[in-house]
Amino acid sequence: MKKRNRKIIDKLEPYAEYFKGNGLGQQFPSPSMEKLSAFFEKKRVHNVLDFCCGTGRNSVFLAQKGFSVYGFDASRMALRDVRAKQRKANVNLHLKLLTVDGKLPYEDSFFDAIIIIRALYQARISTIRKNVEEIRRVTKPSGFVYIESNQQWVWERKRNYEQTRTNERGTYQHGRPGNYYHYFTKSELKNLFKEFRTVRFYFKDRRFYALFQKNDDKISSKVHRVSHFVEKT
Ligand SMILES: C[S@@+](CC[C@H](N)C(=O)[O-])C[C@H]1O[C@@H](n2cnc3c(N)ncnc32)[C@H](O)[C@@H]1O
Repeated sequence: MKKRNRKIIDKLEPYAEYFKGNGLGQQFPSPSMEKLSAFFEKKRVHNVLDFCCGTGRNSVFLAQKGFSVYGFDASRMALRDVRAKQRKANVNLHLKLLTVDGKLPYEDSFFDAIIIIRALYQARISTIRKNVEEIRRVTKPSGFVYIESNQQWVWERKRNYEQTRTNERGTYQHGRPGNYYHYFTKSELKNLFKEFRTVRFYFKDRRFYALFQKNDDKISSKVHRVSHFVEKT
């Protein structure tokens, strides 16, 4: 692509300002990745999806640890950065340029684990619900979903961030029209992932961390059949 055309596209990018600011400064993996990758290794995780991978700091880290990593993001600028990192680290990532709005281009039960770092909240709750349903669909039974994010409501409100309330509880319009942020409460997030078992969930230093494990339908239907049998006898 010609440099001039690339500049025009970048200007139209919803996250251009973010990536020009400290967004592209996100070069280091999230501090939790070391422990999480050890946990994934123990659980024999193979395919991992980095949901809204941004500049790929975590995708590249996990690929270096030997996982088969898939990632997508709506931003061309971010994916350009991931590709540069990928070349430098000499790893192979399965990347897609994609704006997720309730449909993921992966087969059912494809992933052993999905990581969602500082993502998922940039939409209205109706879209978030559809995204979670898709996350459930593409996660294997007994597979893991790890979510980590700033609970930005508290500090962004303190800093007087330019955002306006919408008629939806917890959802704000942030900057330009159509750019929504949703701020979760613990119970709301747990409810969204109600078909998952909560392995860990805590808030620390204005951040929250959650590890969910998808229920295994086969195991739960076996349990159901056993209890049915017990009742009959
Ligand atoms: C705060 S960044 C976090 C990126 C990455 N997970 C990390 O921890 O470095 C949020 C990312 O979500 C992406 N994003 C936001 N909405 C999206 C959507 N609907 N579809 C795909 N990507 C989206 C943005 O382009 C941005 O890269």
